[in-house]
Amino acid sequence: MNKHTIRLHPIGKEIIVNDQTPLIDVLHEFGIEFPCGGKGTCGKCKVRLLEGDVKISESHRQKLDKLDLANDWRLACFSLCSSDITLEIEQFNHLILADESEFEFIPQQGYGVAVDLGTTTIVAQLIDLSTANVLAVETLINPQLKFGADLISRIQACLDGNEAEMTRIIRSAIGTMIGLMLKKHEVEIRKVALVGNTVMQHIFSNSDVTPLSMYPFHTEDLGMKVFSPESLDWKFKIHENVQFYPSIGSFVGSDILSGIAATGLHQKEDFSALIDLGTNGEIVIGNSERIVCASTAAGPAFEGANISMGMRAVTGAISSLNLVDGKMEASVIGNTTPKGICGSALIDAIAILRKLDLIGMFGEINSGEDHILLAGKVSLTQKDINEFQLAKAAIAAGLTILAKNLSLELTDIETIYIAGGFGNYINIEHVVSTGMIELPEEKIHKMGNTALIGAKMFLFSDHTIINEILAITRHINLEGDPNFQDIYVDKMLF
Ligand code: FES
Repeated sequence: MNKHTIRLHPIGKEIIVNDQTPLIDVLHEFGIEFPCGGKGTCGKCKVRLLEGDVKISESHRQKLDKLDLANDWRLACFSLCSSDITLEIEQFNHLILADESEFEFIPQQGYGVAVDLGTTTIVAQLIDLSTANVLAVETLINPQLKFGADLISRIQACLDGNEAEMTRIIRSAIGTMIGLMLKKHEVEIRKVALVGNTVMQHIFSNSDVTPLSMYPFHTEDLGMKVFSPESLDWKFKIHENVQFYPSIGSFVGSDILSGIAATGLHQKEDFSALIDLGTNGEIVIGNSERIVCASTAAGPAFEGANISMGMRAVTGAISSLNLVDGKMEASVIGNTTPKGICGSALIDAIAILRKLDLIGMFGEINSGEDHILLAGKVSLTQKDINEFQLAKAAIAAGLTILAKNLSLELTDIETIYIAGGFGNYINIEHVVSTGMIELPEEKIHKMGNTALIGAKMFLFSDHTIINEILAITRHINLEGDPNFQDIYVDKMLF
């Protein structure tokens, strides 16, 4: 298959892709947001074609005309790569919020770095603090992956005596990422803002993870951590310091704190919810007066773990499935032969199989077989369907219990923001039809990487936003609710 090179300006990145690869598949890794979820309505994913050719379909042309974008502009969410191209990423010329409003920042002198330290991936952006422009981006698979994919195995690896090594490699990896950005832009950094889940924060900070490994999973060590570059063994200068922002609870970290800041949930009179469908599914519901949050055990299935042919959203993964003329059609990342299925397509598969009445309300395969073929050689087993039920029930039960804690009905929630790695890919109609979120589609909005957006906002603010959010936020233990089991089992049904 033909390969093409995509060059990203101004961040100086080159990506090699297969012919006909959708730009959305490769750009979101660099912290590029798709605020309308790729519907072609917001125009925020627009890129300027500096070199090469990107063909425009009829629907793409209509969207461009509506947005008044001519000639060399393209919407990344509607574009396929069919030649070597150089693109200017408009989004990096100013800081945006995924809800389509811009973040008002007070310009400052100097440069800062925002880092989202995820369990699976790390994204770092170098920001000009006088304009909020993104000057450079680095992404990396978290090198701790060799100690296990999920948080439980990372904690176990720490308890097995690897914590010092895990701390060393994560500090070194982030230091290297920043060093690479500084090679391209010889600037002096004023500050670094790091966000991540509580386990990542503990390991980066070399705090003892033992309390996170046993009941009641309560750690006192949640506060802001401040480091000098020397203490992290980083060889470049930082004028102020490196700050790892505070966690909210034992399994609700600063990535969620920054997500709350990014959505502005804490400033609204109406109630909104934020759901992060990452490795550790976190849910927040609140408004300007009260916020509750919790973590659920939803993550593994959505990350492809525990699913027989599950995989992360990388080349070869089926990223979406649609029903076209009664037949299932698959989109595969990198436009290649399907090797497995990622979380977003798992949701599609279940929704479509239910619609076709191939699985019943208890999740049973109606034909009595033990698997259903989806595309190519990729199939879904009975066990995979049951894993999905556990994951979707965790989210649905979490929302119900948190709403109850605020004495709300689910219908009192005006807006639901979806954050997380595969948020850009998920089909909201399918999310609703599986019963994972029992609210109308119009209330649900994809927000992309809210953790990174929030970390960028933190670079421009003192600690006022953080203190405001923490003062009104309560961490809830879902299993502590006397009705948890009943609600959970009930939500497993379709
Ligand atoms: S136009 Fe909104 S994401 Fe592309």
